[in-house]
Amino acid sequence: MKGIVLAAGSGTRLYPSTIAISKQLLPIYDKPMIYYPISVLMLAGIKDILIITTPQDIENFKKLLGDGSQFGINFTYKIQNSPDGIAQALTLGEDFIKNEPCALILGDNIFYGPGFTGMLKNAAKNAKKGFTTIFAHQVKNPERFGIVEFDNNKCIKSIVEKPKKPKTNYAVTGLYFYDKNAAKYAKTLKPSKRGELEITDLNNIYLNKKTLKVEILGRGFTWLDTGLPKALLDAGSYIRAIEENQGIKIACLEEIALRMGFLNKSSINKTLKHYPDNDYYNYVKEVLNSYS
Ligand code: G1P
Repeated sequence: MKGIVLAAGSGTRLYPSTIAISKQLLPIYDKPMIYYPISVLMLAGIKDILIITTPQDIENFKKLLGDGSQFGINFTYKIQNSPDGIAQALTLGEDFIKNEPCALILGDNIFYGPGFTGMLKNAAKNAKKGFTTIFAHQVKNPERFGIVEFDNNKCIKSIVEKPKKPKTNYAVTGLYFYDKNAAKYAKTLKPSKRGELEITDLNNIYLNKKTLKVEILGRGFTWLDTGLPKALLDAGSYIRAIEENQGIKIACLEEIALRMGFLNKSSINKTLKHYPDNDYYNYVKEVLNSYS
């Protein structure tokens, strides 16, 4: 199973903050934004991850993430020259995916809530069996998202991109687990009215083939996208509140590498020598000390 993080886009809603740096490299409290989607893929058990970004940002992503060995995973990089839609991530990733199932996550999406790891493992298992899974969450402003409609049996009836009159407020979040055909189907898509290859059109192909599952993220679950200055600040405050209350860190990639068995204690210890004595790395040291 492969994973893709789409960290392209021009981030214009955050200008001037994103003129010189990619949105997904900005901090959400104590770590770069892209750590959060990477943590989701790692928790799904995915070790081969493609980072798709822009020509001007690729070197910065490589500087931050390297080859992934410090987290026991492998990063590959690819450029999206212009923001032509989320579904393009799958055609750009075709050689990387190599006919395997693939999870795609947007680089500015943050997921946090109970039972998530189990849902991810389930979605990965289903993708191998030929089923695609999308994750829906209630939102206040459904006209801004891809929206799921259900029939009486709670099965998906349709997905509509940015409906003027939304029939539900269940938005499709930026996390998708596809079977091995995603790149093949994505190649058949035509640009929408806004000139993009829409992920909703790809998901509707699976819906029509009756191989689409939707996992509802309940009201105890948090899904944040971080595309506006206010949302960026809110996300940082949210992460800080949880981390300070519980004494844990969300999306600490070294911790996940350890708990997922991607790396052992001594290999993580070796990487820590390169880093300063600060709150983030002191936390990693505490995790290593208390892990047996
Ligand atoms: C995109 C998708 C939409 C989805 C949303 C999640 O919207 O097209 O279906 O609900 O991401 O963040 P966009 O960010 O392109 O407006």
